[in-house]
Parts: sequence; C-alpha cells; structure tokens
Amino acid sequence: MNITLRIWRQPNAEAQGRMVTYQVADVSPDMSFLEMLDMLNEDLTVKGEEPVAFDHDCREGICGMCGVVINGVAHGPSVTTTCQLHMRSFSDGAVIDVEPWRAEPFPVIKDLVVDRTAFDRIIQAGGYISAPTGTAPDAHAAPIAKKNADRAFDAATCIGCGACVAACPNGSAMLFTSAKIVHLAMLPQGQPERHLRVKGMIAQHEAEGFGNCTNIGECAAVCPKQIPLDVISQMNRDLISSLFKRDGK
Ligand code: FES
Repeated sequence: MNITLRIWRQPNAEAQGRMVTYQVADVSPDMSFLEMLDMLNEDLTVKGEEPVAFDHDCREGICGMCGVVINGVAHGPSVTTTCQLHMRSFSDGAVIDVEPWRAEPFPVIKDLVVDRTAFDRIIQAGGYISAPTGTAPDAHAAPIAKKNADRAFDAATCIGCGACVAACPNGSAMLFTSAKIVHLAMLPQGQPERHLRVKGMIAQHEAEGFGNCTNIGECAAVCPKQIPLDVISQMNRDLISSLFKRDGK
C-alpha cells in the first residue's frame, strides 16, 4: 500500500503548528498504524529530518498512551486504540490526516504528543481508597454480587486514553471521570469515601477546564473499551446524593 499522511507538526508547546505531507510506500496491510508511523520515522531519520513525536508504550491496547485523531476521529476508523488499528482499515492510496487530541486541558507538547496530566490530577482528587487493607484477603472473604462485580469491572477497563475528551464537542472528560467513580462505587472498599470522592473528582474535572456533558454520546462511540454512557448518569446520581450528606462522607 502507498499512503499519503498529513501530520500535525509542532516543535514545542509555544510554537505554531502546521500540517505537513509525507508519502509512505510499501506499507503492509497487516502493520499497525504505529508501525506505519515507525516506518515514516525511520525514513525521516535516514534523511536527517526530525522524526514525528507520538506517544505509545504497551502497543497492546492496555496502557492508553497512544491516542491520535485520524481523519477527524479519535483513534481512527475502528473502535480500538491507535496501536491496535491496522492499515487494512485503509485503502491503497489513502490520504490520512493525523492530529493530536484537541482539548484545552490537553496542551500539545510536541507534534502528536499532548500533556494528559489533568487526568492524573482528577484521580488524585479521589480516585482511590485510603482504608488500610492489609495483605491480600482470602478469595470470597468479602462477597460481592455478580452484577456489581461485573459493573465495577466494566468501568475499571477505562485505560484513560483521553479519546472521550478528544471526541466530545464540549471537551468533557465525564466518561473518564465517571468510569473511575463507578468502578469504586460498586465495591465495598469504595463505600467509606464514596461521596467525598464524587465531589472531589468532579470539582477537579471543572478546575482542569474540561467541559460539561450534554449527552451527545461521542465519547462512548469512540471509547476503545466501550465504557457505557450510563456511567455518567450513575455518577450524577451519586453527586446528588452526596449533596445531602452533612459530613460529606
Ligand atoms: S500503546 Fe498502550 S494502548 Fe496503545
């Protein structure tokens, strides 16, 4: 396959960015999108040009590092992470636009790499339990109903890639924030700080400059882990009940 790429190049956070066109020849349909970018970077390095900076780590769809906007869609045409997207999803001769996540709380660091530490600060505002749990308990020592365990697990599969923010016209991170809240809200270990958690994490979400959810649903449509939109409703119910708790706990 021969591919034309139009890639956002931006030397640093302060510099002006622009789209730059590159040709990549002899791309295998079985390559991942990142392997195709590796090919481009090897070529640029041989020519003495600056390779394209992009984030990645596991390349197995589990770390959440690799997001870019491909032809206007977060993570591109398949509902998966960019590292799990294969070139067979494109046709020979395709022209592909590649841009970083676009959201004010995710400033561009370089080329396709954005700063997603806003997510870390949302987690620091409550996405944990502080009860001392000691060593690993025996299995089944704390029985959890199957439907609660399944719901907690589904929410916990969020990898924090940021596609939800990039896809949302409001730049909202509500799908990410609510997945982290619901994960702990479904488990006994998450109950003591349940109400403080929801208030703290939503306050931090606002402080970071993310927009509000208006139920458009683009976030769930592009989520590589298929986090359902109704985690946001559950978070909103928890937020309302937290407002009636006098001690906030
Ligand atoms: S590199 Fe880890 S999810 Fe893509």
